Amino acid sequence: MIALLFISLTAYCQDRNNLIKPGLVWPDNTGKHINAHGGGILFYNDTYYWFGEYRLPRSEKDRSQYGVSCYSSKDLLNWINEGLALRVINDTASLLLPGCVIERPKVIYNRKTGKFVMWFHHELKGQGYKAALTGVAVSDNITGPYKYIRSLRPNAGVWPVNFPDEYKKPGAGEEKLKNWSEEWITAVKEGLFVRRDFTGGQMARDMTLFVDRNGKAYHVHSSEENMTLHFSELTDDYLDFTGKYFRVLPGDSNEAPAIFFAKGKYFMFTSGTTGWKPNPARLSVASKLTGEWKTTGNPCRGTDDENKITFGSQSTHILPVAGKKNAFIYMGDRWTPDNLADSRHIWLPIEWENGNPVIKWYPNWDLKKLK
Ligand code: GAL
Repeated sequence: MIALLFISLTAYCQDRNNLIKPGLVWPDNTGKHINAHGGGILFYNDTYYWFGEYRLPRSEKDRSQYGVSCYSSKDLLNWINEGLALRVINDTASLLLPGCVIERPKVIYNRKTGKFVMWFHHELKGQGYKAALTGVAVSDNITGPYKYIRSLRPNAGVWPVNFPDEYKKPGAGEEKLKNWSEEWITAVKEGLFVRRDFTGGQMARDMTLFVDRNGKAYHVHSSEENMTLHFSELTDDYLDFTGKYFRVLPGDSNEAPAIFFAKGKYFMFTSGTTGWKPNPARLSVASKLTGEWKTTGNPCRGTDDENKITFGSQSTHILPVAGKKNAFIYMGDRWTPDNLADSRHIWLPIEWENGNPVIKWYPNWDLKKLK
């Protein structure tokens, strides 16, 4: 009897994840690799909830089981599959119909309304990445089901807060400038695409959400053909935009934003724009969320080859670890474009160097490493 207990206890312990193992298959409670990509984590009621892109296995032709997955965990190592929090809607009248693209979903909790709000990058069926919309959904329960509200291009008909008056009028012939020419880059920095998209709304692709210490939430998205980040303030219920938005790092081509506040400063990890292929991460720092942001360089501390590809990852979220003061985890995706479901999770501890966050590679690491 005792022997049996010992054997089953050993088996149980072997089944449990005890270490973070970046780049390896990360089994959930059913033994399947965690299918939550480009995601983020919300800590609520002593539990972590991981939301991400549920990617269909390569062989799966039925696109109706697609959407945003949710997993829960008490220890950040062992995750329970909670199913799809948001799923596509089998109705041709809905923009969220099977075949559309849902990326980089993030969920935040609204204390005033008691509701959970999800935003995601939304591309329309059969249109590639042309639409550049952001979608919003809401739920009374953290694990869902989330009710899809709408998708939109933010801030139609309003200028950014930090947009000088002289940028509001188009330069002569600016729409004919050759892409990537010096004149074009200057025109982009000076608001070429903001003007172009003024009436219809600003583009929104890679995105994250950030709730500031005063409860104000921002939708942070790659806009202006991925050339400039927009920090767009959300309304008090987090379900809409107030129309107040800031351009950040104009013309610097940042994607995959992940923001956190520590040691009195705001830090942002981003990547460059090379699609699924990893490139050097960038760290930017600001004393106010709305800027001015300064890019300080690559936060990776590995070999040159590792730094060039951010240890084979692209940022998605920086997770504050509950109950610890300056403990954060870098969450990134190692994409496998021909089988996105199998993309691997690259989680690394945030370490500090002269007051700035850096990441180093560990083939496996113990959460105790986070002081
Ligand atoms: C990346 C982006 C991903 C996905 C991909 C598609 O740059 O970060 O979220 O959109 O491009 O090529």
